[in-house]
Amino acid sequence: MHHTPEPLLTANDLRKNAAFVAGEWIAADNGATLAVHNPADDAVVGLVPDLGAAEVTRAIAAANAALPAWRSRPPMERATLLKRWNALILAHKEPLAEILTAEQGKPLAEAGGEIVYGASFVEWFAEEAPRIAGEVIPSPRAGSRIIVQKHAVGVCALIIPWNFPNALFLRKAAAALAAGCTVVIKPSEFTPFSALALAELARLAGIPDGVLNVVTGMPQEIGRTLMESTVVRKLSFTGSTRVGKMLLAQTGDTVKKASLELGGNAPLIVFDDADLNRAVDGCIASKFRNNGQTCVCANRIFVQAGIHNAFVARLKTVVEAMKVGPGNEPSVSNGPLINAAAIAKVERHVTDAVAKGATVVTGGKRLHGLFYQPTILTGATEAMELAHDETFGPVAAIFRFETEKEVVDAANSTPYGLAAYFFTRDADRIFRVADALETGMVGINEGLISNSVAPFGGIKESGLGREGSTHGIEEYLEMKTLTISSSL
Ligand code: SIN
Repeated sequence: MHHTPEPLLTANDLRKNAAFVAGEWIAADNGATLAVHNPADDAVVGLVPDLGAAEVTRAIAAANAALPAWRSRPPMERATLLKRWNALILAHKEPLAEILTAEQGKPLAEAGGEIVYGASFVEWFAEEAPRIAGEVIPSPRAGSRIIVQKHAVGVCALIIPWNFPNALFLRKAAAALAAGCTVVIKPSEFTPFSALALAELARLAGIPDGVLNVVTGMPQEIGRTLMESTVVRKLSFTGSTRVGKMLLAQTGDTVKKASLELGGNAPLIVFDDADLNRAVDGCIASKFRNNGQTCVCANRIFVQAGIHNAFVARLKTVVEAMKVGPGNEPSVSNGPLINAAAIAKVERHVTDAVAKGATVVTGGKRLHGLFYQPTILTGATEAMELAHDETFGPVAAIFRFETEKEVVDAANSTPYGLAAYFFTRDADRIFRVADALETGMVGINEGLISNSVAPFGGIKESGLGREGSTHGIEEYLEMKTLTISSSL
């Protein structure tokens, strides 16, 4: 049923050196370009247009022009196009992974996993589209009834980070398109090629011109143009809390709907009664996924005194078996960090922690370029920078604790509230601690909590709204209340 072009496109075919507006591949009006570098060796992967306000304004106009036809199309038809896109993405898993590894650095196997993870949102939201239903509410007045209809919000600005340039593009875009919205997508300037490849596959899937637009370039002018527009009715942003707060303030003038998935400072707690192997595996999965560059990565690892030494010993064995190198080399488990600022932050956190009394159990050094040794520190304390700010790198900082109360207070003593994890075999403790932790997501005896069916998002300064799951599509819908009177 799904049409897949033969032969499949290669990474070269999919690596577009142009932005995608109104169904056309465009350059910047002034010809300006931006170089994208491979973080493994600093080689130039390619050039993309460095767009300004004029081109972004045209992208917004294209999305607005495409909106009436797209939102009034029967949801089943939108679903059919999304399913075709999903099939094309899965068929191009390998070239998409190649593009992703070249611009982002993660190992090829992990990049392939991200493509499948991203596609799962397209499939999920394709299936949610026909399930957008309203309500009929009994009216307080005789002869009257109230109907609630769900409508697409309108033109959406989607701002995508560099750590999951494929999956987070799809987690947002698939929900928006399924709801009947049209979108202007701004990928990170570090990883635009994954976004452009997905746009090409959307075009091949038959998603109409103007429904999905990708604008490349530096963030400030593009972000400002999107936020100042009265046509753009919704912002969905994943990135740092600092930038999220700035964007949220900018949505105020035009009262846009906003979803924000911002920074975290995830606690991962190992209680004395945990299954040791499960706790170590969960810690590795949470801490070292994407080389420590995820918003839900464990940032503070709290280990109870009775299991502390055994946990550290086992973690050390696993961490020391990791292989650091370019993502396109077989058997590499940890690629480079994304850029110089990222590795400088990791170095700063480790230096600060050691100066304040932490012990380096393994690692602790930059290897070369943007490669950093997978690292374990013990003796971490509240006084250290890494206790307050996510390291976003391969550093497992271990805090020793004695009591449940002490650790829950410490875990919650942060303005962030995205994810938390804990490991225990005590059923009572499972509910007690899960209730007490102030985060949007809690992994219990589990280090991987992200998938298309579970609501993803944070509380406190970690964000607003949820992505994925049956709730994710609501972020792209508005309610319209019809109050209808008739004579009895
Ligand atoms: C993120 O780091 O922002 C998202 C990670 C995920 O989807 O698990």
